Amino acid sequence: MNYNRLYEKFQELFGKGATLFVSPGRVNLIGEHTDYNGGFVLPAAIDKVIAVAIKPNDTNRIRAYSLDLSDAAEFDLSEKPNKQWASYIYGVVAEIGKKGLTIGGFDCVFGGNVPLGAGLSSSAALESVFAYALNELYQLGLSRFDMAKIGQAAEHNAVGVRCGIMDQFASVFGQKGHLIQLDCRSLEYELVPFDPKGYRLVLLDTQVKHSLASSEYNVRRAECEAGVSTVKKRYPDVQLLRDVTLEMLDEFQAELPESTYRRCRYVIEENLRLLTATAALKASDYVTFGKMMYGSHEGLSTQYNVSCAELDFLVDIARKCNVLGARMMGGGFGGCTINLVSDEAYDAFIQEAKTLYKQSFGREPRVYEVHISDGSRQLKLD
Ligand code: GLA
Repeated sequence: MNYNRLYEKFQELFGKGATLFVSPGRVNLIGEHTDYNGGFVLPAAIDKVIAVAIKPNDTNRIRAYSLDLSDAAEFDLSEKPNKQWASYIYGVVAEIGKKGLTIGGFDCVFGGNVPLGAGLSSSAALESVFAYALNELYQLGLSRFDMAKIGQAAEHNAVGVRCGIMDQFASVFGQKGHLIQLDCRSLEYELVPFDPKGYRLVLLDTQVKHSLASSEYNVRRAECEAGVSTVKKRYPDVQLLRDVTLEMLDEFQAELPESTYRRCRYVIEENLRLLTATAALKASDYVTFGKMMYGSHEGLSTQYNVSCAELDFLVDIARKCNVLGARMMGGGFGGCTINLVSDEAYDAFIQEAKTLYKQSFGREPRVYEVHISDGSRQLKLD
């Protein structure tokens, strides 16, 4: 990431005196589509970030420039812009306003190296970096929890995806060398050291842009909520799928549409897999951890139905190449697989994945080696 370019562009457009902030994208080792069901997730911030050079401008207007799109937008603090990328910024500003906090207009240039639409949460990184920067610039006194929730609310209200808290949480709270085991019901979290000696984390990007993702995402969430409201009839204390056991769900199998039953079953099983996986991780039992990753993929593909042919194909290759664990990652319908692979198996796996994927889909997958990094922060340029 070339921060100097960002800073120079700011100078060219708006003059001197900008402050620089970054927020990262994320990976998630296991626990997919569990966050909005009050379940567990195991994400980490990565060394791919969105950065912003920003400075208050003493007006009530926002002047924003996207370095990667070479596109500018100017809008009032209270005016929804008509450009999609600018609505993320507006969304954060609007949510800060809803908390009764006051900010002024600002100038900004942002850009980054989180691949877009690859399931690495570039949008959460964008929301988080603005929440973090505005909190610092205007001394709003927001906690990191507040910032993550502001980003999530921006995604709901300005973008229209009813996402859970995982992505924004990981982007804001990430810590180098650690996974975050987050309980999305209580928001309690534990930092789990992650340094699997002899293994690497690598992402294979199908380069299928998940265009179905936002509409189908909201449908999945609604299916889970429908399951909960049926179970609630006899178990009034149940608020979220997290509160439902497999035994309880089975009592309702005949009453629930088949697809709703499968969606709910997947979520409950995924929470159990995550608990097995984190216990294994703490015991350095990567074999069990890897099995849980494959189990997660299987569930996402056949029960939750959010995978696609390209993702399934790459996970199959991983299995054949003795990769310890592999699964699709994020919302689904495209984006990346995440793979935990031993140093010995690595080269052959990547080669095989490139060759076979190209034969079937006409292009190679992109390969990203992942390094676990810190969350939202200010950057000082030398
Ligand atoms: C997207 C959402 C997250 C989470 C994942 C699936 O990344 O933004 O909140 O639900 O999908 O686990």
